[in-house]
Amino acid sequence: ALLKGGVSVMNKRPMLLDCDTGVDGAVAILLTKYLNTLELIAVTTVAGNVEVEHTTRNTLQVLELAGMEHIPVYRGAEKPLLCEAVTAHHVHGQNGLNDMTLPKPKREPEAMPAWDAIYKYAKQYEGELTVVAIGPLTNLALAIVKYKELPNLLKRIVIMGGAAVGGNVTPCAEFNVYADPEAADMVFTCGAPVYMCGLDVTMRAYLTAEELDEIASLDNKQAVFTRDVMQGILKFYRTYKLGGVAFHDPVTVLYADDESYFQTDLAGVRVETKGKLTRGKTVTDLYSDKQMEHNAFVVTNVDRDVFKKRVFEILAKYGE
Ligand code: BDR
Repeated sequence: ALLKGGVSVMNKRPMLLDCDTGVDGAVAILLTKYLNTLELIAVTTVAGNVEVEHTTRNTLQVLELAGMEHIPVYRGAEKPLLCEAVTAHHVHGQNGLNDMTLPKPKREPEAMPAWDAIYKYAKQYEGELTVVAIGPLTNLALAIVKYKELPNLLKRIVIMGGAAVGGNVTPCAEFNVYADPEAADMVFTCGAPVYMCGLDVTMRAYLTAEELDEIASLDNKQAVFTRDVMQGILKFYRTYKLGGVAFHDPVTVLYADDESYFQTDLAGVRVETKGKLTRGKTVTDLYSDKQMEHNAFVVTNVDRDVFKKRVFEILAKYGE
């Protein structure tokens, strides 16, 4: 990219990815290399699926697998704002990549913490930066508390998290929101345009075992990795009667890149932080324009065929 006044001039819009790199987060990172409208400029890491040491190392490793070792990585929060940490080792394995091993990363994360990095890039690309957050929202919440002007500097925040209906940790709560509900509510109410790519849509963005094998037959190492790492969690999805494995984080990145094959509705969304049975629920008012302030865009549907085509198209590019 050209440099003008210290700010790179790009044809695409800048994107920062905030992630707790587990299995589907790894695939989301691979997809960022060949997006149509967004360019990845930095990655911040957070504890979530597994501990932050693992999510940071996984991020560095997957960026290397993608040939994107020039993208800076900033380590973030090791625990949620107020509650005890919850993890999803039972889904993502001990190391977060279903215990697949990638080469030891050649570099370390940057010294700056994630929340300062989010602000730094928001300032640098004032009004232009899209933050795609695919883990618990602790880093963003900390950045919002520390830098009051942050919400006004961002173009938008696209979240993989929550659900208008249902949950995957409890009947009411999705993992990323459940893992840090206080942080999530702060992000939903921060005033920046917030987009919720929750289970309502991400469960519809699944690929079957046969489709994963088709991906591997693209025959480049990134495509084979995608099949192998996602295959490991297929068994987990049998309990959802899904017929395949949900690409939660990858579809969120694809939504941020191009929303033309999705359906999005403006709605009120707040996070329940107290309920005994409902803690972590994204209380969503999709049906009325009176009961809650419309503070978020809720993604409710995706054309699965186009989603699948985009995954194949992008992974095929690695072989060109
Ligand atoms: C979310 O939780 C994690 O297990 C996935 O990576 C995704 O971000 C789905 O609830």
